[in-house]
Amino acid sequence: MHLSLQDRLFVLTGAGISAESGLATFRGSGGLWDGHRVEEVATYEAWQADPALVWRFYSQRRRDALAAQPNAAHKALAQIEQHLATINSDNFYLCTQNVDDLHERAGSRRIHHMHGSLFQSRCTRSNEHFSDHALYEDPNDLPVCKTCHATVRPHIVWFGEIPLDMDAIYRELDRANILLVIGTSGSVYPAAGFVHLANQRGIRTVYVGPEEPQNIDAFDEVILSTATQALPAIAERLGEA
Ligand code: APR
Repeated sequence: MHLSLQDRLFVLTGAGISAESGLATFRGSGGLWDGHRVEEVATYEAWQADPALVWRFYSQRRRDALAAQPNAAHKALAQIEQHLATINSDNFYLCTQNVDDLHERAGSRRIHHMHGSLFQSRCTRSNEHFSDHALYEDPNDLPVCKTCHATVRPHIVWFGEIPLDMDAIYRELDRANILLVIGTSGSVYPAAGFVHLANQRGIRTVYVGPEEPQNIDAFDEVILSTATQALPAIAERLGEA
C-alpha cells in the first residue's frame, strides 16, 4: 500500500486489529459469541429479558479489554496519524467498530467508536452518560442512574440499533482519498458498506487482514496479512517519505 503525506486517510477497524492483543473476534473459531447466542446478549430484547446476564457479559469483556495492551498495529495507526497531521490534523480519521480502548491507549486522537464503548454506560430514561468505573465493580449488581434511578445500560450499539454519529462518519468518508479497512469480516452493515460508498466516490480502497472479507470484490487492493505484520511497515515508509 502506498501512502503519502498528502493523503487524506479514513481508517475502519474491526475486531481483527485487537486479536493480536488477545481479544477474541466475533466470528470464526474461538469467537466471542461461542457459548452465547448473539440474541442472548447483544440485543435490546436480551437486555429486557435478562439485564443481569447482559451486564455480566459486558463486565467480563470490559475486564478482558483492560487487561489487554495495544499491539504494533494500533501503535502504527497512531504513528500514521501523527505523520499525516503534520500537513493537516483533519487528514486522518479512525472509525472503529471495536468497543475496547486500545486505539486510544496506543495514541490515536481522531477516533470514533461507531458501536459504542465498554467504558461508558447510559441511563435508559434520561440518556445521561456515565464513565464511572465503580459501576462495574460488582458485575452482578445492576447499576441505577444517580439522578433518576432508572436502570443503566452499556453504551454499546446492539444488533438492530443504529451506529453512533453516522452523519460525521459519512462527512469524513467524503473528504478522504483513501479508505483503509483492517480486520473486519465485512458482514455487518453499515460499516461493511463503506467500501461501496468509497467506490462510488472514486476513493482508493485497501483491505488488511489474514482472510478474505465477505466484501472482498469491492476493494482495489487486498493485503492478506495480519495487522501487526502489515501496518508497522506502512507507518515506517510514511515516516521516511
Ligand atoms: N489482523 C487483522 N485481521 C484479523 C486478525 C489479525 N491478526 N485476526 C483475525 N482477523 C480478521 C478475521 O479474518 C475477520 O475477518 O478479523 C475479522 C474479524 O471479523 P468479525 O469477528 O466478524 O469482527 P468484526 O468484523 O469487527 O465484527 C463487526 O459485528 O458483532 C458485531 O458489533 C460487533 O463490531 C462488531 C461487528
